[in-house]
Amino acid sequence: MSRRSVLQAIGVSGTAAALGSGLAAEAAADPRDAAPIEPGSQPLKLVINGKQQTLRVDPRTTLLDALRERLHLTGTKKGCDHGQCGACTVHVNGRRVNSCLSFALMHEGDEITTIEGLGTPVEMHPMQAAFVEHDAYQCGYCTSGQIMSAVALAKEPCGGSDAEIKEAMSGNICRCGAYSNILAAIQQTRKA
Ligand code: FES
Ligand code: FES
Repeated sequence: MSRRSVLQAIGVSGTAAALGSGLAAEAAADPRDAAPIEPGSQPLKLVINGKQQTLRVDPRTTLLDALRERLHLTGTKKGCDHGQCGACTVHVNGRRVNSCLSFALMHEGDEITTIEGLGTPVEMHPMQAAFVEHDAYQCGYCTSGQIMSAVALAKEPCGGSDAEIKEAMSGNICRCGAYSNILAAIQQTRKA
């Protein structure tokens, strides 16, 4: 290889490196825009906790995985991933759903509320405050699902007896068995 061809090769690769570093700087400015578009992914617009979100998802992505893994809203928990525990409960247009059971793309334009959109540690939703007051959790893994379900329940045609509330909350499993405290918290908000 001649000295001339070596210098030419360095020149080309040097230019490429400079372009690469420029692209890298752009990527750092907005990593989501710079992320490569995955083959087969589809665009999706959602309103999450009052904020418009635009993303691309694989059509097989569940709403739960889109919330947790793409939008980093990890307050919504994955328990069974099969619609059996209620840990993944969120509100879609005001109604409770198990987010592990539907594909994210089915929710184009929908308004999604997660536990992060309900209240804050300093300004809790009354249901969150009631759960704290009644010690309605132990490990806490089921708690965001329990609270989202309980808040939605308040707008459903459900009677006020303990038995009726237990039945309406039966899709939310608590492995720690905090059921009596959860019931007490819900009853407090219904009486308030
Ligand atoms: Fe969705 Fe269990 S994780 S119901
Ligand atoms: Fe542990 Fe409910 S508080 S599973």
